[in-house]
Order: sequence, then structure tokens, then C-alpha cells
Amino acid sequence: MLENHLLQIAYLIGSVTFIIGLKMLSKPESARKGNMVAAVGMFIAIFATIFLYQTEDGSHLKNYLWIFGGIAIGTVLGTFSAKKVKMTDMPQMVSLFNGMGGACAAIISIIEMQHYLHNHSGESLLNLQVITIILGMLIGSVSFMGSMIAYGKLDGKIKDRSLPGQKFITVGLLLGLLAFTVVFLLQDPAQAPTFMYILLACAALYGVVFVMPIGGADMPVVISLLNSFTGVAAACGGFLYNNSVMLTGGILVGAAGTLLTILMCNAMNRSLANVVFGAFGGGNAAAISGGAEGGTIKEITVSDSAINMSYSKKVIIVPGYGLAVAQAQHTCHELEKQLEEKGVEVKYAIHPVAGRMPGHMNVLLAEADVSYDKLLEMDAANDEFDTTDIVLILGANDVVNPAAKNNPASPIYGMPILEVERAKNIIVNKRSMNKGYAGIENELFFSNKTRMLFGDAKSVLQQLVTEVKAN
Ligand code: TAP
Repeated sequence: MLENHLLQIAYLIGSVTFIIGLKMLSKPESARKGNMVAAVGMFIAIFATIFLYQTEDGSHLKNYLWIFGGIAIGTVLGTFSAKKVKMTDMPQMVSLFNGMGGACAAIISIIEMQHYLHNHSGESLLNLQVITIILGMLIGSVSFMGSMIAYGKLDGKIKDRSLPGQKFITVGLLLGLLAFTVVFLLQDPAQAPTFMYILLACAALYGVVFVMPIGGADMPVVISLLNSFTGVAAACGGFLYNNSVMLTGGILVGAAGTLLTILMCNAMNRSLANVVFGAFGGGNAAAISGGAEGGTIKEITVSDSAINMSYSKKVIIVPGYGLAVAQAQHTCHELEKQLEEKGVEVKYAIHPVAGRMPGHMNVLLAEADVSYDKLLEMDAANDEFDTTDIVLILGANDVVNPAAKNNPASPIYGMPILEVERAKNIIVNKRSMNKGYAGIENELFFSNKTRMLFGDAKSVLQQLVTEVKAN
């Protein structure tokens, strides 16, 4: 009795820490601590279950070798991969971990289905318990296979592949899966084991077909969606075991994943259906070019850039995907310090979908110890550009493309952007005139205010630091 009370208290602590941790994740200053708070809650919930949980006959869990063997292997693999992973490979890692969550939910469901069939031999399958088990199994396996494909695509191991009539195949398969689930629930229970594995295989196939055609760069949105699937699958487990902490955790992951998916779609001004069924860059050539092709660009040297910035009052840096690729965040911070020593006010303008994953730029700059109060969110940054002498764009492209405001035919029309053209001067660093993620031309590069500073972000920043020091 006492042990059960203690277990429930542990679950309450776990649930509260998840909520507090999630809340703390919403600000860069508290995100690290929030992660730790939720991890401690998870630790308490797991170990309370292992040592305090009692089965109906009052006995404790016995398989300690299996349990701690699994925990040890998971801890070693998790720690090793988290330490080794590069910042630009983070989406792959998230995808892989998410897939593991989906696989766990599916495996739990398979085991529980076997238990159910053993204990309720010959009884009808049409009841809430079996429906919950089946939902956990289907959603978990879609999430697992989908995440594995997303991982393979992000890591360049799997190419985008789309079959003719892909939309109809995806929707048809989903409808088929739902119909087959109904057949499963209504069938003769003696056939259930075989049917269960067929259903599992269909769900796994759906996970593959659903993710396969989606463009590699749309993967963060899809991963977030799959993340919410995993949350729902885990919540099914919590419902099944009457386990409050598993239920809370699952619901939080499901809700957070759904909100993040919606926020990312809004920030790109695209619908979820467009992300899942369409690809950027699919419009007509004229719309895509934004009318900018054929214009002339003006270049600037590293030394002129350094002089101009050193004698400015205010410089705003716009980091983008290229900065992450070049791993130039530390050098960027170094440049910020050098400019500040010259009395220049330096800030960073952060677009919500700059880079390739939510919070990509915040994490990148936090890694380089850039102070959080220097990071301006998009609206605040747009208000400050009018009083800015130089905007230094480092490997960003789509998030500063004026076509999003000016060209209704552009695929990114309507996406909120950093309005850098409001500043007095713009310096753009990238390696070439190649396009960004959306695959469209950027008329900003041809503007009278803009000077192009070509080169890899890290090497250009290193040269800028040297030149600014020398000035
Ligand atoms: P992009 O539009 O992808 O542009 C990045 C630019 O960086 C490229 O034009 C590239 O030009 C340059 N670059 C690449 N490597 C570089 C290097 N080593 N040094 C210097 N420059 C380099 O990036 P963005 O402006 O950050 O926009 C992000 C895009 O990703 C948006 O379209 C957004 O919708 C999409 N997206 C974001 C997310 C999230 S959640 N962040 C999720 C899904 C999609 P060169 O090749 O010429 O150097």
C-alpha cells in the first residue's frame, strides 16, 4: 500500500517536472536547465517503477538483469552519440531517437496484444483495451519506419523517391490501413495473431510510403509530426497501463510536436498538406526566379567590409544555414567581440526557420557563448533595421528574400522575412550565387544597398576578425 502511494507521488513529481521542463525549454536562457529538470523527473519515474511497482499478486518486477542491461546499453549508446554528433547532424539524431520511441510503443503493444489474447481467449476484440493496443502499435510503427526513412534521407543515405500518383497511393494506403484495422477488430479472435503481424507490416509500409517522397529539407517538419505520433503512441501505453506519468509524457510530446509542426508551417507560410504532398521550387520558372536573374551584383573585399563595420554604430548579424554548415559560430562570436571593442553595437537577428531545425540558430550561437540578450526575434529585429548601419548576412538566403513580400507568384510569398533592406547597407556572405533551400533566386543580392562577400563563412569570418583587429 505504502509503496503504491510512493509510486504515485513519484509519478506526480515526474509529470510536474515534464511540464516545468517543457515550459523552461521555451527560452534559450532556461532551455538547458529545463532539459535537466525533465530528465531528473524521468529518472525518478523510471526508477520508482522498477523498484516500487507491484503486480496484482503484490510481487515486484524481477527481470533486473534485462532491465539494467537495457538501461546500461541505452545509456552508453545515447551518451556516446550525443557527444559525437555535429550540430548540423542534429536533425538526424532527433529523428533516430524519435524512431526508438515509436518502436518502443509498437513493441509494448505487440506484447500487450499477446497478453490480451492469452488472458481473454476467444473473446471479441471490439473493446477499448484492444483498440488502444492497436492504436499504439499502428502509430508507433508508422513513427518508427517514418523516422528511419527521415534519418536516412537527412544523412544522404536515401534519395527522395516519389511514385507516379504518389498522393493517391499515400491516401489509399492510409484508408486501407484503417479499413483493415476495423476488419481486425471484428474478426474471429483465433486469427488475431496472424492478422496482427499483417497489420503491423502494413503500418510499417505506410510509414515508408508517407515519408519517402518528402523533400530532404522538409524533414524537420515531418520529424516534428512523427514526434507527435510517438507521443500519442506513448500516451496509448500510459492509458493501457493506467500509468499517469507515461500518459502525461505522451500527451505533452504529442501536443508539443503538433504545435511545433504548425508553427514551422506558419513560419514558412505553407500548409502541412503542402509539406507532405508538395515540394518547394515546384512553381513556374518566372515565379521562381523572382525576376532577379540577369541583374548585376556588386562585390566587396574583406578589408573594405572590415573597415565599414569597424566605423559603424550598429551592426546586425543575420545567421543562416550556411553558418551552421561552416561551423563558424565561434569565429562569428569573435568578430562580435572585436567590433564591440571598437565601440560598435552588435546584435543578431534570428528568423524562426533559419537553418534546418527549430531553434537551430539559437542553439548554434548559445554553443559559442553569444549572450542571449543580443538575440533579436524577427519582429524586434525588423524594428531595429531602420537604425542599423550594416547588416551582415552569414549563409542565410530564403529568410531574407524580399520576394516573400513583393512577389505574389513566388513560392515563398507570404512567408514572414527579416526585412534587412530597411538597413543602410547590406553585406551578404555566401560561397556562390547558388540558391537556398527553397531553390529560388534572391533579388536582395542585386539590390543597390547590397555587397556580396563570397567565400566559406568560417574563412571569411577569420579574415574579418584579423582585419578588424588591424584597423
Ligand atoms: P537557406 O535559404 O537554405 O540558404 C543558405 C545559404 O547558405 C545558401 O544559399 C548557401 O549558398 C549558403 N551556404 C552554404 N554553405 C555555406 C558556407 N560554408 N559558407 C557560407 N555560406 C554557405 O538558409 P536560411 O536562409 O537559413 O533559410 C532556411 C530555409 O530552410 C528556409 O527556406 C526554411 O523554410 C527552410 N526550413 C527550415 C526549417 C527550420 S525549422 N529551421 C525547417 C524546414 C525548412 P552558397 O551555396 O552559395 O554558399
